[in-house]
Amino acid sequence: MGTDGGTSRSPGTGLSGKLWGGRFAADQAPLFERLNASLPFDYVLAPYDLAGSRAHVRMLVSIGVLSGEEGGRLLSGLDQVAAEIESGTFVWDLSDEDVHMAIEKRLIVMLGPVGGKVHTGRSRNDQVALDLQLYLRDAVDGHQERVIGLMRSLHHKASSEGSVVMPGFTHMQRAQPVLLAHHLLAYFFMLERDRRRLVRWRDSSWMPLGAGALAGVNYPLDREKVAVELGFDQVAPNAMDAVASRDAALEYLSTAAICSLTLSRLAEEMVLWCSQEFAFATLPDEWTSGSSIMPQKKNPDGAELVRAKAAGFLGRLVSLGSLLRGLPLAYNKDLQEDKVYVFSTREELDLCLEAMTAMVTAVRFDPDKMRQAAEGGYAQATDVADYLVTRGLPFRDAHRVTGQLVALLAAQKRPMAAATLDELERLSPLFDSSYYQVVDLDGVIAAKVSPGGTSPRSVAAQLDLATKMLVEADNV
Ligand code: ARG
Repeated sequence: MGTDGGTSRSPGTGLSGKLWGGRFAADQAPLFERLNASLPFDYVLAPYDLAGSRAHVRMLVSIGVLSGEEGGRLLSGLDQVAAEIESGTFVWDLSDEDVHMAIEKRLIVMLGPVGGKVHTGRSRNDQVALDLQLYLRDAVDGHQERVIGLMRSLHHKASSEGSVVMPGFTHMQRAQPVLLAHHLLAYFFMLERDRRRLVRWRDSSWMPLGAGALAGVNYPLDREKVAVELGFDQVAPNAMDAVASRDAALEYLSTAAICSLTLSRLAEEMVLWCSQEFAFATLPDEWTSGSSIMPQKKNPDGAELVRAKAAGFLGRLVSLGSLLRGLPLAYNKDLQEDKVYVFSTREELDLCLEAMTAMVTAVRFDPDKMRQAAEGGYAQATDVADYLVTRGLPFRDAHRVTGQLVALLAAQKRPMAAATLDELERLSPLFDSSYYQVVDLDGVIAAKVSPGGTSPRSVAAQLDLATKMLVEADNV
């Protein structure tokens, strides 16, 4: 944004050069002006401010506060301001303080005194509260779309590379073999809940305009009409609540932070999987960067940054919570700072979602390496214990016997399937050659038949459900 930083006197202003300057005899200190102005960041509210003003003007005409002719002039003035902003010819002047004043001043310059009628029955307090709700709604819609995009790419990977076998981990130790599809679908369902949180955000978005500064205004406003035009389900029923509350913004930041945590876990797994130690996957050159000193390096910086950015989301959530803590009713200038957190959260979440979608699409898995890792980690041990249980051994004893078997094999770095029948029978007479089917990785996986488990059938059912969720998400 270009601001000319000028302090030129404008029509309708007092000596101080401000639209509200009637009672002021001196200019603001330049340093205070800088501290006070939200224009450097709130100019992005312009489209919402214009939409709010249009609805407000139409409503004022409908209740007879403005004549049809005045309303018409204001509406075409607002269109012209919109066109100027769109084309980049609008002059943003820091001395206007914020986007609301900048637009109103331009309207007055353009239309003459009738421009000053746009602010009838309105305060910047309810105006900014409205703009923020409209901004948040757009942000939430944009995130939803991108979350669905990421879910779609996970779904695609899960169905196309679904039969790849890998170790599932607990405590970062190889735990039990799972299908790669099972692992990827875990993120799919986490994201479905993130998406639903975004959908539910709407319940907290009430239409604040008409609250005035805090007490309501001296006109019988038709707030329902404004709410309908702007697509709100509910009018904020209390003017003080309407101008003082920012819980919808806080909830937005919290929803975004939770989603960023989901992304950071997926990003962290990308980093691990692409390490030479895991070697489960590689990211293409387009999604990695080199080292300035070590020629062999191919760093997963994209995934690392998505992982890192979760810190910022949490920080902004905590920042707004701290800002609201103990803030007395109604409007306080502190509330101007809410936008700093909200605006960067929108940008960052869109960026992270798009980047993760691209990385999930681009990542190449190495099925042989993943299977080897699953073979090498004694990940079938639970199944061997269960096998002994079906042959009559109490689970606790079966656990001990299997543990002894693992210790024996691990000492010689031999995999589970390499145990000889002799060795097995020495540990327990319940073993026989059917042991070798039990430790077969595919058999282990196929045995996890419980709903939500990793057997191909259970995973196919998960995929079906995931498909339905995507169809539903597309239809809302
Ligand atoms: N720029 C202000 C904000 O973002 C607009 C509201 C100003 N209200 C006031 N009473 N000074 O909060």
